[in-house]
Parts: sequence; C-alpha cells; structure tokens
Amino acid sequence: MSRSNLDGMPALIQNASREEFGDYQVNGMMAAAKRLKENPRELAGNLKQALESDETIEEIVSKIEIAGPGFLNLTLKPDFLIRAVNSPPPQTDNAETVVVDFSSPNLAKEMHVGHLRTTLIGDTMARVFEYQGHKVIRQNHVGDWGTQFGMLIAYLDSAGTSADDLKDLEIFYQKAKKQFDEDPDFAEKSRSYVVALQQDQPDVLVKWRAFIEISMSHCEAIYSDLNVTLHQKDTFGESQYKGTIPAIMETLTKEGLITKSNSALCVFLDEFTDKNGEKQPVIVQKSDGGYLYSTTDLAAIRHRAHELRADRILYFVDARQTLHFKQIFALARKAGLCPPKVVMDHISNGAILNKAGKPFKTRDGNTVKLADLIKESRERAKEIFLAKNDKADLSSVEEIANAIGIASIRYSELSKHRETDYVFDWEMVLSMEGNTAPYLMYMYTRSKSLLIRSELTDSDLPKEPQPEGPIERRLVLKMAQLNDVIDSVSRECLPHLLCLQLYEIATAFARFYEELPILSSPEKDRLRRLAITSKVATKLSNGLDLLGIKVLEKM
Ligand code: ARG
Repeated sequence: MSRSNLDGMPALIQNASREEFGDYQVNGMMAAAKRLKENPRELAGNLKQALESDETIEEIVSKIEIAGPGFLNLTLKPDFLIRAVNSPPPQTDNAETVVVDFSSPNLAKEMHVGHLRTTLIGDTMARVFEYQGHKVIRQNHVGDWGTQFGMLIAYLDSAGTSADDLKDLEIFYQKAKKQFDEDPDFAEKSRSYVVALQQDQPDVLVKWRAFIEISMSHCEAIYSDLNVTLHQKDTFGESQYKGTIPAIMETLTKEGLITKSNSALCVFLDEFTDKNGEKQPVIVQKSDGGYLYSTTDLAAIRHRAHELRADRILYFVDARQTLHFKQIFALARKAGLCPPKVVMDHISNGAILNKAGKPFKTRDGNTVKLADLIKESRERAKEIFLAKNDKADLSSVEEIANAIGIASIRYSELSKHRETDYVFDWEMVLSMEGNTAPYLMYMYTRSKSLLIRSELTDSDLPKEPQPEGPIERRLVLKMAQLNDVIDSVSRECLPHLLCLQLYEIATAFARFYEELPILSSPEKDRLRRLAITSKVATKLSNGLDLLGIKVLEKM
C-alpha cells in the first residue's frame, strides 16, 4: 500500500476500552481502509501479519487479535511489563535550559487564590523538567515596581502606621488606597514618592525595600507551606530591569518600531488589529516617561535569552494575559531581543470558580487570601481526621492534618486540566474517595502496612514479579505506563495526566488488595504479590513527590 495515501492518518494506539480486549487497541483502520478503498478487516489482518513478523514487536507483544469491524487488540508480555515498571525514569538526551516564570505575584497585595494555579502548576512543571534532566531556572517575576508603591510608601511613612499594620497587607493596601482617594495632600506625596523612587533617591529606596521585604516574607511563608520550590534566589522582580530598559528602548527605536501616539511611545504591529482592522498599539513608555508591564517584560525576555541562556522560556500565567504575551513575543522577535532558536511559550490556565460558577470569593465578596485557604484546609482536614479516629494521638493528628490539608490543595489544583475553569469545592478537595490526595495517600499507607505485616523487605522479594491473572496484570500495566505519562506531562505541561495515572494505579491496587489473598496465599503467590505491592508503594510515593506531595507512612 502506498504510504502517501495515508498522510495525516497515523495509527492510533490507545488504552483498550475494556480489560478483556487486552492492553491496547489500534484504531483508525476503518478510516484508513476507506481512503485506500480496502476492506477494513482485511487491512487489519495485513497489519497483524506485518506486526507479527517484526522482531521488536515480538519482544513486547504476546497476542494480536482482530476485533469488530477492524480493530486490533494488543496484549503485552508480562516480562516486558515488569521491565517497564523497573526501568528508571527516562533522562532526556537533549537537556535544555528551561526558564520557568511562575507565581510572580504583585507585591502591593497579599497572595490570593488567583495565584494558586500559576504557583502550583509552574512548581510542578519545574520539578518534572528537572526530573528529566533539564536545567531549570525559576523566575519569580514579582510586581515590585510602579505607581502603587509610591502610595504604599507614603502610607508606611504616615504618622499613625506601625509595623503591626503590615501583618495584613490587604488591609494595609486598602487603607492606603482610601487615603489616596480622599486626601489630596497624601496623593501628592505618593506621586512625589514615585518620582523619587524612579530617581533612586536613597531614603525612599530604604522605605521601598522595607515594604518589599515584608511583602516577600508573606509570599515565602506561603511557598514554604505549600511546598513550592521558590526561594529568594529565584526572585527577579520588575524593579531589577530598571537599568536595562533604556537599552531596550534604544533597540526598539533603532529598529524603527516606535511611534509617538498621544505623547506616549507605542509599537504598532501588523498582526494586532481591532475588529475594524485598525492596528492596536503596545504602549512601551507613558507620556510621563514611566515604563509599563510590557516594557519590563521585553527586558526580561532579553535577560532570559542572553544572560540566562534559555533554550525555552515558559510563562505560567492565567489566560487573561494571552494577548499581552502574544504581543510581547512578537515584538521581542521583531526587535531581535530573542533569537529565533529560543522558544517562548505562554502556558495559560483557567480560573477557579465557586459552586455557583462565579469567581471564588469570601462571603463578603473579597478575594480569598492563600494564607486563609491554607489555614482552612488544615482545619478541615483535622476535623475530618478526628471524626474518623477519635482515639488518635493528638501530636500526630496535627502533623497528619497539616500534611493532608496541604496535599489536598495541591492535588485538587493539579488534577484539573489547567486550561479549563474549575469549581473549588471543599468536600471534593478533601474527600477520601475519588481522584484526591487523601485517597492516594491512604492507598500508599495501605501498601506500606501490608509490607510491614509481611515482615519481608525488598531483598526477600523477587525483582521481576511477572503479573499473573487479570487483576495483577492491570495493576502492573498501569505502573508500566507511568514513565510515558510523565513524558506527556512534560511535553504538554499537563500535570493532571500524572494525577490520573496515579489514581488508576491506586484503584487497580485497591482491587488487587481487596480481591486477592496476599499474606495468606501460598508462598509463590505471596512473594510475587508483595513484590508488586512494594512497586506500588514506590510508584505512588515517587509520583506524588513529583507533584510536590509528601506521603505519610500512617494515616
Ligand atoms: N505580576 C503579574 C500579575 O500578577 C504576573 C507576571 C507574570 N510574568 C511575566 N513575566 N509577565 O499579573
């Protein structure tokens, strides 16, 4: 058959829809047969024959069956499956320097639920890239510059404020804003602080730094609570580009990209037009000389491409900034700030909603602070735990509830497709059933307690336990697929695929645990099943670790 006839029609190999069909099914034969004007079952037969005479396939596949109108069902060899389970995570043979820009909150306010997705997805992807052998450079591009800070410093400077007022940055911001709106003298003072700040006036810089330090320490507390791998060295905020922006402006000017419009400096690119076909500007300098978010981002691109020597620059930022990134990426290419071989990508995420499908807010309509969300999760986890274990030792309750509270927030976020909006529902977040952190962590403890009760260690167990029967097979198959899934997570920046696979391992283990005798079975079965159990424990804890979740040995 001529290959070119099948362009754009790859064979689709998918998980078998039903266990009794084998492990995988090959789809797409009907469409291919139609294109080739052949009988689909005959085509399937030809493919089966071709596969059966292939040496590589022969090592992997034990059975190929034609099914229905022209599917092929594939069953893999048990020894291949267990070798796949045992094989270490594949290291990339093309290690790249990946700059990962995530979290990046504005320091004028406290971190809120809107920062959860970028922070957790970005953190997890940074872990995944490192796991595969890439060099990851984390960049916390905090908003630490701009007009708001004049106002905050002025407020910090005003008579009645004390250090205590800074404990709640949100209220501090609101109070400052109120005075800014109501008191012209205060507003004037704020503006003069902005100018002083832009001119690097030392006494104002000291005050600004004090504010930034306090705000950053709020963020760091959140990162540490949520087990986010962002540290002081990763913070490279907007203010740090101050010195390089003039050079960026010069480049834009030299490239003939700058147009003056209403006394602001703008760039008009052909590809960004409004619905009437009018070109839309990217403003790079305001009429008062101030620079904007876009200008800083252009400077950041150059820094990342040239100083940090990135092969890829990834921005984990929510979908509302899609246009911003399209514009600055296009502009950076045009101005030669980012060489063509360096990839820039906006990895966007959707919103978090309440049960009514509206933005997730507090009862009085304010944004939910991350600090409060974390506290609530821990409290709720503790309540649930105590309700189930009334005799639990209190010191361990605290530790367990904290771990479950944090794991649940992380997992509930990471288990959703990042691009869709999702409803945050405490009952689901902390549920012991379904695709949740408590369920997976619980399954891990079950696997561990089985191993402990067996009084055996890995050295007593077979290294390559070949699965027997459908229940063992399914469990081993799901573990064998894990490395491939991690590859897909990396390629598509979709951590929920990893959650799903871990969940499938956990449910396959639940069935194995409930339906098969393990400790009471004859020696050969017992050792094989315990060896499989030990692999489950390792896969679950390694997989959760990649998601930034620490397992508990007991729950
Ligand atoms: N600080 C921005 C915000 O809160 C996000 C920054 C994202 N990163 C970037 N390089 N623009 O919306």
